[in-house]
Amino acid sequence: MKAKRPGSLKPSTRETARVVWLPGDGVGPEVVREARRVVERAAELAGLELESREYPCGGRYWLQTGKEWPDEAFPACRDWADAVLLGAVGWPGATLPNGDLAGGGVLFGLRFGLDLYANVRPAKLFPGIPHRVCGAFRVVWPPESVDMVLIRENTEGCYAPVHGQLTRGGTSEVAVDSRIITRKGAERVIRHAFELARERQGAPGDGKRRVTCIDKANVMAGCRLFRGVFDEVALAYPDIATEHIYVDAFMQALVRQPEHFDVGVTTNMMGDIATDLAAVLQGGMGVAPSGEIGDRHAMFEGVHGSAPDIAGKGIANPLAAILSGAMMLDWIGCRKGSAAWRGAGAAIETAVRAMVAAGEGLSPDIGGTEGTSAVGDAVLRRLAGEARRASSSSARRPRRRRA
Ligand code: IPM
Ligand code: MN
Repeated sequence: MKAKRPGSLKPSTRETARVVWLPGDGVGPEVVREARRVVERAAELAGLELESREYPCGGRYWLQTGKEWPDEAFPACRDWADAVLLGAVGWPGATLPNGDLAGGGVLFGLRFGLDLYANVRPAKLFPGIPHRVCGAFRVVWPPESVDMVLIRENTEGCYAPVHGQLTRGGTSEVAVDSRIITRKGAERVIRHAFELARERQGAPGDGKRRVTCIDKANVMAGCRLFRGVFDEVALAYPDIATEHIYVDAFMQALVRQPEHFDVGVTTNMMGDIATDLAAVLQGGMGVAPSGEIGDRHAMFEGVHGSAPDIAGKGIANPLAAILSGAMMLDWIGCRKGSAAWRGAGAAIETAVRAMVAAGEGLSPDIGGTEGTSAVGDAVLRRLAGEARRASSSSARRPRRRRA
């Protein structure tokens, strides 16, 4: 045993991280409540301290106040928080005078304002969750055949705020959406994809580490630039297989051979569209998490929207928000160089995986009957069980000194 150092009677300072929670519209508050409970418990079980601030925001908030979020919310995300977890934005009838979605200022304010250029969207099917590809016959595939991450460029493309309408005599005559692709924007997101591929175990089908460039380079100039930069960046990663696929063909391949894909990288709107389909492979929008990541900041949210049709009914699936919370803790751990935060994130994913494999905590969208908070309760029970198992097995194991 290590000798006690003088001063060790002082309470040890625990590792601390700061999170801004933005519940937002529709089902956002319901799912963020569960994500927050789970994230806070995971941190506590790992002996970590979480400081929180929460702000209302979104389209409904705009209808009530004339603002999309309080003035102090963005500075808190930028200057105070280590990470942000957002529920969803968008509310029926909440449209800004210029026609934009009210609440969009929160989402895009964070994406552009914090330069969150890599929108990382894993599609992983856990045993116990049914995929949602339905048709004349139900397709059966082993859950382990879906384990990919699609990375969507998040700060340019069709989402660059360079668009407008020409109105003559009160009538809209022409509308233009310009698509901006830059070398810098392409390079940093493509590099992120290759770095991630190095950490992963390869595609489920053949175990090969692979990055797929998804584009429409046969038609679009921006995609030719994107593909060219992809080929340049790939030279620095000779250990990783690469390929190009046109986005239309990719949409087919995604459903026909999901096991082929490991990491995919694409431009903003193509990624927006492709990740909705990829979510279907992992059980639907209710379970698809995401992390929007920059060099200094990150924001996490379920891929799903605010789902106003089921808001307030207590039936929304909180797993997307909970798994986004797990990604958030992992990212905090990477940033801080802390295995403890990464471990807390991994513990959440392990708990969710064990829970659904046992047929528990399944909400109606994935074949169960549990409500939003019952799913949160079930994850919390598993988390506690995981922590007990981890501590009792380490107590049984003789302590060995690490070489
Ligand atoms: C998403 C959403 C948003 C987007 C909407 C709400 C503006 O669909 O995060 O995928 O298009 O990026
Ligand atoms: Mn989308």
